[in-house]
Amino acid sequence: MHLGVFEVAAPQVGGTLSWSHPYSGSERHREQQHWIDVARLLEAAGFDFLFFADGYGYPTIGGDLPEVAARGGLNFSGLDPMFLIPTLAHHTSRLGFVVTSSTGVDHPVATARRFATLDHLTGGRVGWNVVTGASQDTVAALFGHERMTAHDTRYEIAREYVDLCLQLWEGCWEDGALVEDKESGVFADRDRLHRVEHVGRHFRSSGFFTVPPSPQRTPVLFQAGTSTAGREFAAGQAECVFLQGTTLPHAAANVADIRARAAAHGRDPESVKVLVGATVTVGATHEEALARRAEFEAMQTDEVAAVIYAGNTGIDLTALDPDRPLSQVLEGGGDGRVGQMGQSNIDRFRRADGSWPLVREVLAELRGRGTRGFTIVGDPVEVADQLEEVMDVTGVDGFLLEAIFSPGDHALFCDLVVPELRRRGRLPAEPDRARGTGSLRERLGAASPRLAADHPGSAHVRVPTSA
Ligand SMILES: Cc1cc2nc3c(=O)[nH]c(=O)nc-3n(C[C@H](O)[C@H](O)[C@H](O)COP(=O)(O)O)c2cc1C
Repeated sequence: MHLGVFEVAAPQVGGTLSWSHPYSGSERHREQQHWIDVARLLEAAGFDFLFFADGYGYPTIGGDLPEVAARGGLNFSGLDPMFLIPTLAHHTSRLGFVVTSSTGVDHPVATARRFATLDHLTGGRVGWNVVTGASQDTVAALFGHERMTAHDTRYEIAREYVDLCLQLWEGCWEDGALVEDKESGVFADRDRLHRVEHVGRHFRSSGFFTVPPSPQRTPVLFQAGTSTAGREFAAGQAECVFLQGTTLPHAAANVADIRARAAAHGRDPESVKVLVGATVTVGATHEEALARRAEFEAMQTDEVAAVIYAGNTGIDLTALDPDRPLSQVLEGGGDGRVGQMGQSNIDRFRRADGSWPLVREVLAELRGRGTRGFTIVGDPVEVADQLEEVMDVTGVDGFLLEAIFSPGDHALFCDLVVPELRRRGRLPAEPDRARGTGSLRERLGAASPRLAADHPGSAHVRVPTSA
């Protein structure tokens, strides 16, 4: 079972309200020591990585920041988590770090340089969660773009974006190009450096990538976003997909679809790891877990749910007829934004028979749920049983844990659930074992710190011309 923790350098995760509760310590998210403590805790328990969601956007309703979003810190405000990573790497030795960065803002050269730098500074423990970006309407306005780029075009851009990054990481420095021989005074071998010449539909680049090859070269490529275009993108380039769990059959269908698409791209479908989001509330007893969850539930309202949903989809549920199905937003082609911001959070409500729940039911479902995945509450045995069931029924490789009260929930999971999972053989008995060279890619099951041979990025690798 692969395990990561889903975090934000912000008041709280998952589009729910919890930061102001006494159980939460997330108001310390602007302090380095807070994150050092979290990273050390996860490393000691044998977690694979700490994952940071991120973005420039924020939720809007009617084109403006709603009062409830500011008051509640609901997907509003936060730091750039990338700057935390060198510090956290310095205070750990095995834990991986995955940082979200969108393909909608900076030029690929800038992103490639940042991740290559992080791969050096972490000793090969970094991953990039490639997203086309949430709250696209606010991001577009913030950056002065004339309009929000259409949903499927954003994925087309993402494909080219990642491909250019792969050329920079894999194609510019031949193995052996970095000589660094003090005696001869040769730093780099000019004959082994190759220009990148990219003239694409969305990006151009001509020249040399100036960051020398890092341990993994390409950071482990994560992806989140499960629309058809998102799954197709994941199947082509992602090594690890973050799915938001809804129902077991829905998650199972997404896993099967992503693996089938990966095979169609000529990749080993099992090499694409799929992790699902899970909100686990554990207590020493069932009652303790229920009581903790009840503290959280008491803070959630329809207003909170509606703000987050609007931020993800452009749909204001409070402006809809509560007694008609959610599909009313699709009538007449929607208002132009529907389906253009994000489809995962619309599609998740479409039932297997094609019908849709009432808006009232959607709000009830979202309350306390936000954009979170599976909800699991119980004592350690109950939690382990449910995690095992999710894995066995859906075929996912593990979980991204979305705390309701951070960082306390992480500590409870490490203390109570990790030993139970070890007893069942779902986690290694020896929690701190580094795999291979200690890279994140090997930690996630790869045979080497470098991209797999069947990954499209490997086609850019230059085979050394002479010994
Ligand atoms: C599980 C999950 C996690 C996501 N995390 C982020 C994030 O951290 N930052 C971000 O800008 N977008 C994030 N997104 C949104 C995606 O970037 C994407 O814009 C959105 O999901 C629309 O794509 P889709 O229709 O394929 O879902 C996430 C989406 C999902 C489903």
